[in-house]
Amino acid sequence: MADWQKSDWRAKPRIQMPDYMDDAELKAVEAKLASYPPLVFAGEARRLKAQLGAASRGEAFLLQGGDCAESFEQFSADGIRDTFKVMLQMAMVLTYGAKVPVVKVGRMAGQFAKPRSAPTETVDGVELPSYRGDIINELAFTSGSRIPNPNKMLQAYTQAAATLNLLRAFSTGGYADVHQVHSWTLGFTEGEKATKYRDMANRISDTLDFMKAAGVTSDRLHSLQTVDFYTSHESLLLEYEEALTRLDSTSGKWLAGSGHMIWIGDRTRQPDGAHVEFARGVQNPIGLKCGPTTSAEDLKVLMEKLNPENEAGRLTLIARFGAGNVGDHLPRLVKAVQEEGANVLWTCDPMHGNTIKSATGYKTRPFDSVLREVREFFGVHKAEGTIPGGVHFEMTGQDVTECTGGVRAVTEEDLSARYHTACDPRLNASQSLELAFLVAEELSNRDQAQAAKAV
Ligand code: PEP
Ligand code: CO
Repeated sequence: MADWQKSDWRAKPRIQMPDYMDDAELKAVEAKLASYPPLVFAGEARRLKAQLGAASRGEAFLLQGGDCAESFEQFSADGIRDTFKVMLQMAMVLTYGAKVPVVKVGRMAGQFAKPRSAPTETVDGVELPSYRGDIINELAFTSGSRIPNPNKMLQAYTQAAATLNLLRAFSTGGYADVHQVHSWTLGFTEGEKATKYRDMANRISDTLDFMKAAGVTSDRLHSLQTVDFYTSHESLLLEYEEALTRLDSTSGKWLAGSGHMIWIGDRTRQPDGAHVEFARGVQNPIGLKCGPTTSAEDLKVLMEKLNPENEAGRLTLIARFGAGNVGDHLPRLVKAVQEEGANVLWTCDPMHGNTIKSATGYKTRPFDSVLREVREFFGVHKAEGTIPGGVHFEMTGQDVTECTGGVRAVTEEDLSARYHTACDPRLNASQSLELAFLVAEELSNRDQAQAAKAV
């Protein structure tokens, strides 16, 4: 973009960002980050954009998921492997059940900064600044912990680089080979969904045996042995984003080098604000959260700013209205998109509109509300004749008890047992798989409806 510089956001109103106390310290961190290698490359972001374009046409489906907030303390190879594994399982359920390629994008390797509903938090009469993610300050409830420290950006960069390194190894080093489908059965030793998943894995193995017997050799099966896995995060801490932004020599365009896809949150999507200004100038695929307060007028302005060339795959609209509210809001925004003739990919985040406080004091999400919002999302697109192209959620491969419900019912009393999130409650592995089966069902209905229309 000729009229854009990576620091232009600094002249715009900024919200949800920390005020660092030591400017010299901040500048030193920014300079260091600016000298480091980018974490992702422009060719990868362009490939993802093409795949998201396919999803916007109903030729693929986006599966985006991971932590609400990545944590320095809980960082481990097992944690990354288990989340990756659950994403592969979900993708397998979707691909096999709905016969569409699944584009896999983790909320990983950069998902550190968090917008908050209030600037301060009060516990037992003590008021402190809110926790804003490990890249900014610390979760512990002490005044020292809550002071924003720019050096945390360097630790976030290092953790993101190590995470990406492992994800790249898993994606291409044999772990994601579809022949391993049985070994991905972590945690599903019981229950109806486990049986369903194992039946599917058996059918996939049979198919692979047949292909081998029929002489389809392993080099022809390369695409079954590796997987494309992309990273994404909310582009919230703009000092970090700017420092990792690079000019791509092939295209002459800017790239946010912090992750393949970045998104703008529901609280920071002001058309004239700093976050939109930053995102509009980089060539990465951009996500835009759409909530109950998104107006059709704002959406039109944002689509024009963020995707002036109306490129397929550039803009993903992430609907997050809450169960029971989708019918009130999604149709008016779908119409706004149609009036503009805009190319967008519609996906559903059934997490952020369904957060409640349990009777036991934990922030939670009832699994039934999550499922209901997904159904409502598919229902509206069916009624409008538009394409539901993906899902976006907060999940982990760990066996946590953060969202209530699911087949291995987590109750409000269970929440305290394994409640580990640094921010919002996540689906555990079993709930994630259950969600994948529901989405696969909705998707095969979508594809039947499309096929019927085509006849
Ligand atoms: C998030 O995705 O973690 C988030 C804060 O979402 P939203 O901006 O939609 O509230
Ligand atoms: Co969240």
